Amino acid sequence: MSENIIEFKQVTKYFSDKAAVCGLDLPIRRGELFVLVGASGSGKSTTLKMINALVAPDEGDVYFDGRRIKDYDIRALRHRIGYVLQQIALFPAMTVRQNIELMPDILGWRKSERRSRAESLLEMVGLPPAEYLGRYPHELSGGEQQRVGILRAIAARPAVLLMDEAFSALDPLSRTALQDILLDIHRQNETTIVFVTHNMHEALRLGDRIGVMRNGALVQNGRPSEIQNRPADDFVRAMFEQEQATPEQVLAAFERLNPQAREVVRRRINQAV
Ligand SMILES: Nc1ncnc2c1ncn2[C@@H]1O[C@H](COP(=O)(O)OP(=O)(O)OP(=O)(O)O)[C@@H](O)[C@H]1O
Ligand SMILES: [Mg+2]
Repeated sequence: MSENIIEFKQVTKYFSDKAAVCGLDLPIRRGELFVLVGASGSGKSTTLKMINALVAPDEGDVYFDGRRIKDYDIRALRHRIGYVLQQIALFPAMTVRQNIELMPDILGWRKSERRSRAESLLEMVGLPPAEYLGRYPHELSGGEQQRVGILRAIAARPAVLLMDEAFSALDPLSRTALQDILLDIHRQNETTIVFVTHNMHEALRLGDRIGVMRNGALVQNGRPSEIQNRPADDFVRAMFEQEQATPEQVLAAFERLNPQAREVVRRRINQAV
């Protein structure tokens, strides 16, 4: 079994005559939470869609578990890959239970196994099964729908979970809560996760490794600390600066600290300047 569950080798994808992804070399390791971050139009979604064969490369190859994706039966491949988008399309005429059990059902799981899987997943994300199993999607809040969407994607224990801006439409509190849930899911299961976002804070919070894209190319690939401490160029540096706190916000946060914590901050600042 190779260490890389997914590997892009010299992958290029054109739309008309413009390359949306260009010369991409990227290994994704088994079991890691890999975050692709970059500005709008940089090629993140196109890259993700080449993993579940929604988009086919024009040049190069993408490998899944050591075999070229184009050599797979697409249905069988997609059964091993969960996919979560910004707007979850739960099936509106199905209950929460039916939505979550859908893929296990397709794969032929026994009813008792499906039921206990759906119940334990709901418990894991803080939605009491007795209350939620029988509800329909329109009876859930946006954040709850997003939770159920994630559960639906992981219910049949896929090898890989793809997430495209999955939390971007949520308010900051729900977003943080779902990030925590995702980190829990990742810790408890062996699922490899590829997560796309344009938000560098989210990338740093979630990623075991982060790939930064610009104009279809991967400009940096490394652990969060590496990206943060040694940005490859001004573009990567700017991605942090856009999201920096203002001096007023920093001062307000400082005012809320107790005296010992303030002393720690003072010492750090003196070391830094
Ligand atoms: N089906 C398509 N047909 C034509 N052009 C496309 C298609 N899909 C993507 N593109 C173009 O390819 C480029 C990369 O798009 P992509 O969706 O991968 O970007 P992204 O990084 O996911 O952006 P965003 O953060 O806005 O979602 C863009 O210039 C986009 O207009
Ligand atoms: Mg996108």
